[in-house]
Amino acid sequence: MAKSLIALAAGAAVVASAIAAVSHTGATGVVLQRMEAMSEMSASMRVLGPMMQGRTDWNADALRAAAELIAGHGAEMTELFPEGTGGAPSRATPAVWSEWDEFARLADLLKAASTALAASADQGMVAGDAESSSLAGELSAGTRAATEALLAQLPNGELFRLVNQTCSGCHSKYRGRRN
Ligand code: HEC
Repeated sequence: MAKSLIALAAGAAVVASAIAAVSHTGATGVVLQRMEAMSEMSASMRVLGPMMQGRTDWNADALRAAAELIAGHGAEMTELFPEGTGGAPSRATPAVWSEWDEFARLADLLKAASTALAASADQGMVAGDAESSSLAGELSAGTRAATEALLAQLPNGELFRLVNQTCSGCHSKYRGRRN
């Protein structure tokens, strides 16, 4: 009896780890690591989005934690894309490596904009205006360098939009179809 229970438990553990291993379509190593980092950032965006839109109460600590998680992953993102790690099951396109400078710029921008967003947590929500929105557009496109001083001028409504645009801008350039 005891023996069969142990066997049952061991069997269940094998099934559970098999499920975990295929949860990202069979990815392993650094590819799995970056997929997990991306998924964690998505979870943070689901905290930030409703707060920035006033649909959930402002919570400075929660905002800081979510923005800092994104900044941390932004800082390590280029290390998670070593050359030669494209191809199924990864959805990274070859352009990641042929346009490495632009890919790295977007990773840096993600880190810098989310760091500035975290630093604004105690201000409450501050909406942008035409001028700050145009500055954010230039930083997003890379026509102006996203220095700490310029980012500090942006109201956090614009900083959040900039973070969001950096996710989607990078995906539209460097994330391909599901393999
Ligand atoms: C510098 C480029 C870049 C930035 C910035 C970026 N991503 Fe990604 N993201 C990618 C690439 C490339 C992939 C595909 C990775 C792969 O399949 O190997 C990806 C994949 C993903 C995935 C799918 C993960 C999976 O399980 O397969 C999610 C979710 C995601 N990103 C969310 C985000 C969010 C949220 C942000 C912003 C907070 C963000 N990403 C910022 C490049 C980026």
